[in-house]
Amino acid sequence: MVGSGGREHALARALARGSSLEELHAAPGNPGIARIGRCHPVRGEDIEGLVDLCRTARIDLAVVGPEAPLVAGAADALRRSGVAVFGPGAAAARIEGSKSYAKGVMEAAGVATPRRLDEATAPCVLKADGLAGGKGVFVCPTPADVDAALPRARAIGGALVVEELLEGVERSVFAVCDGERAVPLPAAQDYKRLGDGDRGPNTGGMGAYSPVPGMTEREIEAVLETVHRPVLAELARRGTPFVGLLYAGLMLTERGPLVLEFNCRFGDPETQAILPRLESDLLELLTAAAGGDLRGQEPAVSSRGAVTVVLASRGYPDATEAGVVIDGLEDAERLGAVVLHAGTALRGDTIVSAGGRVLNVTALGATVAEARARAYDAVECIDFPGAQYRRDIALETVDVPA
Ligand code: AMP
Ligand code: GLY
Repeated sequence: MVGSGGREHALARALARGSSLEELHAAPGNPGIARIGRCHPVRGEDIEGLVDLCRTARIDLAVVGPEAPLVAGAADALRRSGVAVFGPGAAAARIEGSKSYAKGVMEAAGVATPRRLDEATAPCVLKADGLAGGKGVFVCPTPADVDAALPRARAIGGALVVEELLEGVERSVFAVCDGERAVPLPAAQDYKRLGDGDRGPNTGGMGAYSPVPGMTEREIEAVLETVHRPVLAELARRGTPFVGLLYAGLMLTERGPLVLEFNCRFGDPETQAILPRLESDLLELLTAAAGGDLRGQEPAVSSRGAVTVVLASRGYPDATEAGVVIDGLEDAERLGAVVLHAGTALRGDTIVSAGGRVLNVTALGATVAEARARAYDAVECIDFPGAQYRRDIALETVDVPA
């Protein structure tokens, strides 16, 4: 397992349930993952270090969580050294790494996407090329927004994509891919803004829930048919087949779902709310994908709801505080929730904060509303001075009395 966030902790937990698992190793992992596997001080960006670790630990399957190592070619290097990998090579990972490349692939594959504009005239959206940690997209309703965004977008560099500004509901659809075939995972709703009611700055994601109203199995299958499979065919045609998780970020519009972006990996924190609902063996599924043969794989998903609340440091998403002592995690888990580590470190026996997004509290329930109540009860048990978290994750799924 490559990575160190809450997504990787959720993946590690699900993989650890795999019937064929012998040993779980993480690079670098985190204090939560250390309770279920062995963590090694090798960072995802250290490709040689990953290859060496896979050799010495005799790894059969590598699962790469974050985008940066994928875009840098970690999966290619591991495959060359004989390890099966769940995660695309650098060429296919460009679907996330370059907005203009992704746009070209969608146009060639006939996938519906916002129209390109010849000039940066408001209203429009400017997209800088390259991985920008979610900061490369500038939504510009007015000319003043365009004037402010253009220099910032150009400073990021690369080809600038200008497209029409759309309005609608956003949804993400995840598919496990073997280079040719795509198998759906349940949908999850992400919360990108820091504050309640979608106010405040954009973040990596402050919470998630699953399932999502209006995203039934049939609707997800329709998206796979019109988005994921044509893109897989186009990437295969280009000689760069996509093996891994293809994440489509959609806007639901009057013209149908249009693709705003692709990611070449599991979403964070959506994965934390999706995997607890998976009843079948994730290790078997990802092994089949890495081996290029997903035939016969149909993930079984529970009808229960899952909710994830992200606890972030004081100051996030700007300058974040670190080294804050955190307590009460066992009390939270005693209530039946799972506390995933996203940005923590061990100081002696004490858990301290070590990042922007620090903990992901996840709970299951018969319904999303029940899961939501459980997740927030668990959050209340956690003593994390200065923590910021949203109070309205999955609130729209609860019938609020008038
Ligand atoms: P992306 O990284 O491409 O998903 O863009 C980040 C966010 O910018 C998306 O989640 C949307 O909220 C917004 N966005 C991107 N493209 C558009 C568009 N064409 N119209 C409106 N909003 C957009
Ligand atoms: N939660 C959004 C992402 O993973 O990109």
